[in-house]
Amino acid sequence: EKGGFDSFMEKEIFDQPAAVADTLLGRSDAFGRLTLDELRITPEELASVTKIVVLACGTSAYGGSVAKYAIENWCRIPVEVELSHEFRYRDPIVDSNTLVVSISQSGETMDTLMAVRYAKEQGAKTLSICNTNGSTIPRESDAVLYTHAGPEIAVASTKAFLAQITATYLLGLYLGQLRGNLFSGQIKDILADLGKIPAKIQDILDRAEDIKELARSMKDTESVLFLGRHVGYPVAMEGALKLKEIAYIHAEGFAAGELKHGPIALIEQDKPVFVVVPSPRGRDSLHSKVVSNIQEVRARGAKTLVIAEEGDESVREFAEFVFYVPETPVLLMPLLATVPLQLFACELATAKGLDVDQPRNLAKSVTVE
Ligand code: F6R
Repeated sequence: EKGGFDSFMEKEIFDQPAAVADTLLGRSDAFGRLTLDELRITPEELASVTKIVVLACGTSAYGGSVAKYAIENWCRIPVEVELSHEFRYRDPIVDSNTLVVSISQSGETMDTLMAVRYAKEQGAKTLSICNTNGSTIPRESDAVLYTHAGPEIAVASTKAFLAQITATYLLGLYLGQLRGNLFSGQIKDILADLGKIPAKIQDILDRAEDIKELARSMKDTESVLFLGRHVGYPVAMEGALKLKEIAYIHAEGFAAGELKHGPIALIEQDKPVFVVVPSPRGRDSLHSKVVSNIQEVRARGAKTLVIAEEGDESVREFAEFVFYVPETPVLLMPLLATVPLQLFACELATAKGLDVDQPRNLAKSVTVE
């Protein structure tokens, strides 16, 4: 059942090309028009939305944080991302023009369910992005967009995360189409780039041994930091979460720009620091800022572990280790850059002899508040 892999987690990491491809399947026509007919919410209702609030917990919330960059960029609608359990206790402002998008792999997370119920009571429209057919959150929501990652067995979420990002991107493109923010040619181009993601993930998986070897060499590490900017920031957070939950290693993700506001004090000789570097082809300042962040931590003794785009030679001289991911538009980079970090956590936990699929103190669905 593990298909020859040591753990369900590893199998599910390797299932990711299919998870993304299946989530894209059948959701656009030959003209590159999004056809999200299954949504159960009218195009008119969606077009009238003035604000989006994304509610989720854990990894799913990082999926929401990634989506914010894309949806705001494509649709010019403000997107707030909030942890479900924080949302409910602060008297949030939502009304009938607010689209509340909940993201949940299981569809049973109590904190998210309660937040969705609360938002509904306030008159918001609710849309569930969910991986589990017929689960409670999609049943109680006005609309649903299923991720088609297939059942996720390992406690640590991997393929559901990439499928969630894919689904929120489809939603963003659909909103952009309905509201006229995106031309059909733009949508077609973005869909074509999304369509190339599964093969690019496969290319990363084919080189898994490079990152696994690094992970094994670091099995006695006590603490790892993760830095990212823009969409690389939630990727860094997710990389840190994976390491905490399955390898029981202290890990923290930071926005790279925050370094000098405090976290840089943590850097000491040989401190491992992963840095997610955006494409040099994107907004120029973004790339060079992150490269200078690598230099800053390196100058203070950090062991710099860099995830960068193929062809980006500028990082080499400041990096102890580089893992290259294939070229893709900046907004799609999380679908690639996350994968080596998942492999790293999985292999490191395996090397420590831990039960990767059933980490201590954690449950697959958190059905209590
Ligand atoms: C992390 C992880 C958790 C879940 C969180 C939300 O690997 O599995 O952080 O992402 O408990 O669960 P869902 O998505 O089922 O609502």
